[in-house]
Amino acid sequence: MDMNISSHQFKPLKTAFVVIQFLLIIVAFSSCQQTTDSISTSAIQTEVQSPEKINHVTFFLSRSGQPGYFVRHRGEVVVDSSMLGFDFRGLPALNMGMEIVKTSLNDVDDSWEMPWGEQTMVRNVYRELKIELSEKDSSARKWNVYIRAYDDGVALRHEFPEQPGLDTLIIMDEFTEFQLTGDHQAWWTPGDWDSYEHPYFTDKLSEIDALAFQNNTLAQSHITANAVNTPFTMRATNGVHLSIHEANLTDYAGMTLKLKKGDLIVSDLVGSDITGYKVKRAVPFQTPWRSIQIGDKATDLLTSNLIVNLNDANKLGDVSWFEPKKYLGIWWEMHIGEATWDYESGNHGATTENTKKYIDFASENGFKGVLVEGWNTGWDHWIGFDDREGIFDFVTTYPDYDLKEVVRYGKEKGVEIIMHHETSAAPRTYEAQLDTAYALMKDLGIHSVKTGYVGPIIPKGEYHHGQWMVNHYRKVLLKGAENQVAINAHEPIKPTGIRRTYPNAISREGARGQEFNAWASDGGNPAEHLSILAFTRMLAGPMDFTPGVFDITLPTKPNNQINTTLAHQLALYVVIYSPVQMACDLPENYEGKAAFQFIKDVGVDWEKTVALNGEVGDFVTMARQERETGNWFVGGITDENPREVKVDFNFLQKGKTYKATIYKDGAGAHYKTNPTTVEIETFEVTSEDSKNINLAAGGGFAISIK
Ligand code: NOJ
Ligand code: CA
Repeated sequence: MDMNISSHQFKPLKTAFVVIQFLLIIVAFSSCQQTTDSISTSAIQTEVQSPEKINHVTFFLSRSGQPGYFVRHRGEVVVDSSMLGFDFRGLPALNMGMEIVKTSLNDVDDSWEMPWGEQTMVRNVYRELKIELSEKDSSARKWNVYIRAYDDGVALRHEFPEQPGLDTLIIMDEFTEFQLTGDHQAWWTPGDWDSYEHPYFTDKLSEIDALAFQNNTLAQSHITANAVNTPFTMRATNGVHLSIHEANLTDYAGMTLKLKKGDLIVSDLVGSDITGYKVKRAVPFQTPWRSIQIGDKATDLLTSNLIVNLNDANKLGDVSWFEPKKYLGIWWEMHIGEATWDYESGNHGATTENTKKYIDFASENGFKGVLVEGWNTGWDHWIGFDDREGIFDFVTTYPDYDLKEVVRYGKEKGVEIIMHHETSAAPRTYEAQLDTAYALMKDLGIHSVKTGYVGPIIPKGEYHHGQWMVNHYRKVLLKGAENQVAINAHEPIKPTGIRRTYPNAISREGARGQEFNAWASDGGNPAEHLSILAFTRMLAGPMDFTPGVFDITLPTKPNNQINTTLAHQLALYVVIYSPVQMACDLPENYEGKAAFQFIKDVGVDWEKTVALNGEVGDFVTMARQERETGNWFVGGITDENPREVKVDFNFLQKGKTYKATIYKDGAGAHYKTNPTTVEIETFEVTSEDSKNINLAAGGGFAISIK
């Protein structure tokens, strides 16, 4: 049965607004796809399809008047009938007895420019359906649902419009269901309320057991249910890939996804032990978008712009005060135990002298930034201390660090200091100092800060991903914008495309980064880590992964090593997008290494991005064109399995001959036994050419094309 409502046919009108009133139809579901019992015989429904008719979302009311939806991709159901509802404090739940008052459609076809990003121009084409609901009984509460159909995915959000007698809503939970259509293969991390820094697991939906990770050794962790964090990427047996996430997480709790019986997943918001609720909002308000990226193959997910497109346009205007950059830093030496953050140990890393050494090396090699961690007082009372309130000071330096002098010296050499604020998850202490800390950066002409939130949140009972902290992270972002400072948050709230609205949200952590390789008791990130990350965490936005370790075996850490080859480390500058890319190893480990040339050459700001090939958890190859120069860079990585990857250069301009340099795993390379051998070759290449490249176990390759 074709359920198209004729007036819903796509019209390529620019922001046309079509009001479809009373066009709701009663349909019999007799020949309809596998829909659940709740709407088995008849229901009221209306639908919206994406511009190229690739994705369809049908909204319906069950016989009991509960709203729901299902999604088809190229005609096949990919999300079956899924119900929507809310539980409140002090008010009856909202999950049935609704009627549709009005529906309307809105077509949008526009494009917008990224000040920096994976590409310059982003096309934003979708059709939106707004459904205005009202309770049939006398309370007549109003609830609107917006559904957007894009060709690369779909999304829905809830809205509580202004209405008499409803000033504030206290949400005990939101129940947005995702009824999947099979026991999909999934790549997941536990739905931890405090940390995204878990390894990824590969399981069927039915095998996921997040509660098994309740007693892990992370500095902070809080797992309450068999739930996963998002982006949550899955592959159906027919090869269709889905990734559930959220967009525009503003003044709301982060969403985890609880695994219910069978293939049913339901939103589970992060809570607070202090308030006992999940979200408190004044009416009117809208929830974040609940998004599903949909691709026929894994690589389709990699170039989806759904998450940023679901966010509002740039509110900061000109942000040219920030410049994408590669940076070095006083950082890795602390993680591998060669220096400390604190001054008291007598082995302090952040000294004026050491910073000048980094500035010199940066300036000699074309790096525009140097991060300095451990410059301020408080570090002797950091990890393991419960009383971290009032400890860190964001303006007072240790005695061996002259902040003004290193800033001056850096300016002379064309290098900007990157500020560092480890809050130790004491956001009230940080907020009390925001004005002075950001004024200091403004005075010094420092335009970026890396923040950190290691440890359980103070006050106890609040969690990194709850509404209270979501609002804290936003406050910091806005304070940064006010002072022309860009934020790179570690232990952050996940990226949800806010960078479109506030481009000073340049990057963040929000997954297991390189640091785990230095000290994790499980031996660090497995070889497959980045081949999963590319298709999961990276769908949400830029990550400060801090690639570039050359001293792979970590001589000072007998129980740890990097589980990749050196060539794999090079490829990460292309595979993992961030407008700030660290070369994280110590300067002396780069000195005299031919492969360092790739890190010096590689771009950080892109005109175009092409996903060449890949499978989640196995391998991935990306090509990106640098904005300023038009040069292309290609990066490919594999998991623990060696493989041959074919690169087709048809992304290059036709009729032009380019000079390329490839850095690949040398003969006999293996991430465990022989990780640092790299072969470097130059060759000429045109858009007609292709090349087969051998990747070692845990290996990779990187190509620069000029
Ligand atoms: C955790 C961050 O991820 C890491 O990069 C940083 O060095 C430490 N916190 C100290 O702030
Ligand atoms: Ca971290």
